Amino acid sequence: MEISKIRKHLETEKLGEKLLVFNEVDSTNNILRGLAAQGAAMDGTVVVSDSQTAGRGRMGRKWISPRGMNLYLSALFCPEVSPQKSSVFTFLASCALVDVFSTYGVDAEIKWPNDIIVCGKKISGVLTELGISGDTVDYIVIGIGVNLNLPEEFIRREMDDISEKTTSLSLLLGEDVSRDRFCADLINSLDRFYAEFRRRGARAIVDVWIERWGLLGKDISIDVSGEIVSGVVERVDGNGFLYLRTPEGDINKVIAGDAVF
Ligand code: BTN
Repeated sequence: MEISKIRKHLETEKLGEKLLVFNEVDSTNNILRGLAAQGAAMDGTVVVSDSQTAGRGRMGRKWISPRGMNLYLSALFCPEVSPQKSSVFTFLASCALVDVFSTYGVDAEIKWPNDIIVCGKKISGVLTELGISGDTVDYIVIGIGVNLNLPEEFIRREMDDISEKTTSLSLLLGEDVSRDRFCADLINSLDRFYAEFRRRGARAIVDVWIERWGLLGKDISIDVSGEIVSGVVERVDGNGFLYLRTPEGDINKVIAGDAVF
């Protein structure tokens, strides 16, 4: 990827003012966390790499990160929020992604909490990691992986048990997309939502997310460490926690888990 080609399309207030592009890293989240811990990164710093040797997903899962095909991006946010409210940044990223996909004519759905799905298959995921001192959030790293130009044959060969549930933008569009252009579009979109967060607060982001998610009032199931919790979504609070009403009428608060289709 080329920094000048990304920069050419940036229209941001904060994101990407400091932009670092690598050929290969272990994980863009690791690089950015390292820089943040040394004080060498600022609010809005973005790290992108052509490949990752140890890309990770949520719950210790591996994020397959072949060279030159996809987008691996991490962005640093230094807002004044409590650790509980920080999951709003995962929502911010999901909203930014859905908006970018829509500019490519792709109708993407959010699967709580952080997967972006098209036609039932995953195209992108978000990994949020925090730097915390005591009860204060020093920084939030949002890591985003997007399957851009993964060919069908690669998915079948390399993605084993998740191959049936994985897609890429090029497969949906029938042609390859510019990674530099998509990267700039995503940084612009993240920047717009971050500006909205600074102006109107976490609740404004959660409200947009709820609208894009579209499952308020619907019956859903969440896998919480192997236990399936089902119910009608009663509300989503300002921290992004879900409140499910069970058939017995109890309210279950769900903080973390994986939505089940
Ligand atoms: C998930 O769906 O579980 C989250 C996947 C997040 C992958 C991205 S790729 C860029 C950044 N660096 C990483 O090691 N992980 C995130």
